[in-house]
Amino acid sequence: MGNCFGSRIGSDSPYKSSGGSASPSSSSGWVWRRKGKGGASVSSSRVSSSPSTTVPPTPRSEGEILQSANVKSFAFNELKTATRNFRPDSVLGEGGFGSVFKGWVDETTFAPARPGTGMVIAVKKLNQEGFQGHREWLAEVNYLGQLSHPNLVRLVGYCLEDEQRLLVYEFMPRGSLENHLFRRGSHFQPLSWNLRMKVALGAARGLAFLHSDKAKVIYRDFKTSNVLLDSSYNAKLSDFGLAKDGPTGDKSHVSTRVMGTHGYAAPEYLATGHLTAKSDVYSFGVVLLEMLSGRRALDKNRPSGEHNLVEWARPYLTSKRRVFHILDARLGGQYSLAGAQKTAALAMRCLSGDARARPGMAEVVTALEQLQDAKETAAGGGAGQGRASGGFVRMRGGGGSGAGRQQQQRPEPMAVRRLPAAPLRSHPE
Ligand SMILES: Nc1ncnc2c1ncn2[C@@H]1O[C@H](COP(=O)(O)OP(=O)(O)OP(=O)(O)O)[C@@H](O)[C@H]1O
Ligand SMILES: [Mg+2]
Repeated sequence: MGNCFGSRIGSDSPYKSSGGSASPSSSSGWVWRRKGKGGASVSSSRVSSSPSTTVPPTPRSEGEILQSANVKSFAFNELKTATRNFRPDSVLGEGGFGSVFKGWVDETTFAPARPGTGMVIAVKKLNQEGFQGHREWLAEVNYLGQLSHPNLVRLVGYCLEDEQRLLVYEFMPRGSLENHLFRRGSHFQPLSWNLRMKVALGAARGLAFLHSDKAKVIYRDFKTSNVLLDSSYNAKLSDFGLAKDGPTGDKSHVSTRVMGTHGYAAPEYLATGHLTAKSDVYSFGVVLLEMLSGRRALDKNRPSGEHNLVEWARPYLTSKRRVFHILDARLGGQYSLAGAQKTAALAMRCLSGDARARPGMAEVVTALEQLQDAKETAAGGGAGQGRASGGFVRMRGGGGSGAGRQQQQRPEPMAVRRLPAAPLRSHPE
């Protein structure tokens, strides 16, 4: 869920189905979910009807959203039992929305199960009071309750009881990309080049699906902590609290208040509040750069001039010769000259100051697929950790990954009231 400081979703945002249409893509493997037994969701086999006949009704009210969500409604006590009373030692992580706990439920009935049995879940518990948390909670149910895709985390259910707001997800055993890139310690080995490329492709597919005509959703909070990894390092996007329906008709953008996370938001979005799918492409470029460099988008622990990753890296990205200066030293010799240069060039295009010059996410997916397929772009092939091989370019010193630093700052959340000047306050959501 997004970092929350004050309002991040405008109060006048009319919720409607993110889905738009339900025409399946032969390549993407996404499906709409249908209700299963007892209201629990099951993935349907692919739907083959045309969009016009499968567009779900457009829910606008909270009741309609909750009713149309193809997920289970949990009682608070069920989740309390499933997480062993929200035991502190079962905390998987903490974000702006609240804490995330590990729990267990029966695979078919979703009733609480004994630890270690049934299906593992991640339960996100809202700990902030007030309307904003509720809006984000509802947005999550709205989007993830309707959309299903291999690169979106699966929402199993939700709980709405008195003041309690919880979200129940499939458990992602390898946690977030953020932990893998930036946490130091024996538990977190540096991600290999091949795994970084695999994660980049999975996340790009998730965004491409959201932007496609089937979903038409702008994600708005793409960052490393929202990319979760399954046991095979398949990437899945989580946190739809800030997601918005894309523009309709001949509109080029959606007008919003500026929200997101510092370091990831596109410059034109920051300047105007005009949100397009290309804003997500920019954020993807930032994350790709974080994966290449092993550096955070914003890191005030770095020497001055290096706080902002994009600003620091841009001159190196434009030079084929100097691009190695920015590569994560922990990658050793795992990548090839051509692979690193092409990936850096792709990041550069995503980070273009002119939104129209950025590629669409479908194009990014194709580029990353080609990079994965091309034998010469990876040193080792396969997805193993830490393979080094001769004959490929080694990282030259200087780029540095900051390895060894134990504590790194997390990027600051951004909300309208935290912006220094607030010319965008008046933008309608
Ligand atoms: N489904 C899941 N399976 C396993 N771990 C999860 C799951 N969802 C979240 N987590 C862990 O919990 C952490 C907190 O998640 P959360 O989405 O609340 O906040 P965040 O994304 O880290 O930060 P922010 O609030 O800035 O978006 C994640 O970084 C991740 O490590
Ligand atoms: Mg998150």
